[in-house]
Amino acid sequence: MAETREAVAGRMNDEPAGELVLPNGQTTESLKHKDLLGIEHLDVEEIRLILETAQHLKEISRRAIKKVPTLRGKSVINLFFEPSTRTRTSFEIAAKRLSADTQSISASTSAVVKGETLIDTARNIEAMFPDLLVIRHACPGAAKILADTCSAGVINAGDGAHEHPTQALLDALTIRDFKGEIEGLRVVIFGDIAHSRVARSNIHCLRKLGADVVVAAPPTFLPYDVEALGVEAHHRLEPALEGADVVMALRIQLERGGKLSFPSSREYFNLFGLSRERLALAKEDAIVMHPGPMNRGVEIASDVADGPSSVILEQVSNGLAVRMAVLYLLAGSGAAKNVEAAA
Ligand code: MLT
Repeated sequence: MAETREAVAGRMNDEPAGELVLPNGQTTESLKHKDLLGIEHLDVEEIRLILETAQHLKEISRRAIKKVPTLRGKSVINLFFEPSTRTRTSFEIAAKRLSADTQSISASTSAVVKGETLIDTARNIEAMFPDLLVIRHACPGAAKILADTCSAGVINAGDGAHEHPTQALLDALTIRDFKGEIEGLRVVIFGDIAHSRVARSNIHCLRKLGADVVVAAPPTFLPYDVEALGVEAHHRLEPALEGADVVMALRIQLERGGKLSFPSSREYFNLFGLSRERLALAKEDAIVMHPGPMNRGVEIASDVADGPSSVILEQVSNGLAVRMAVLYLLAGSGAAKNVEAAA
């Protein structure tokens, strides 16, 4: 029988405190690249390594003193050129929990408003010898440009409608917490698939981990030839939801053109909103996810968002652990060192 939400939460809190031990018992295992730019080019072993590492790091946030010296002396700079609440705060707290020095720069406080290019900004920041750069930018490929320009490791915190790798990783960790294994699960992602980096990263991640991924959206929100990504596609939510283990709602990306693709919020909710009645089509123990920010009454009803199937706040907690893991693997024992050694 599937565990209840309370039981999983209890188990997550009971995990023993202790030293960080990676899955292979070593502290030198690392990702294969100096950067985390997306899920598409990660292999399954790297995804599993991040998830296992995050699992080990979770308990640090439940200690009375929420800090370990792992990244003491390392510096992490967050460059956020797009609004963010969860991701930015999560990266900042993650770096601090590992004792890294952090500095956050947003579009409004950077020299970009004075006309400086992203590459010039990056070169100037690089001249201050950071170890890791975390970037969010409206342009797909911005993180790659930074990674090609800088020797510091670069973490993509969302580049336009392209990828948002740490979101997909925290989603996978949350699904694993509640469902045990991801392989064979029916995971429904619905809403503005066309403009969503969360959808893209999740499709890559969940497919690599063996899930059956189903997408549902009005035709204007589904990319042409989306099936080529290995997903089942629907233009109505109801058939997609039947038998679902996981239901992931996505916001309409108004800032990326989503506004032009549907007539009104009320009509959208009537046709595509996740109401209790629609959720009843999924399995009884299905979990409901949302990357946030949520638009209540548009893609999701309030009583579903706050209801017993919702694991939305657990996603946020897992985001912290995943970002700690990624920082650790790239700056602590990881690729940055390998790159130095190879130089
Ligand atoms: C994102 O940055 O893509 C968010 O996590 C999801 C959203 O903005 O809808």
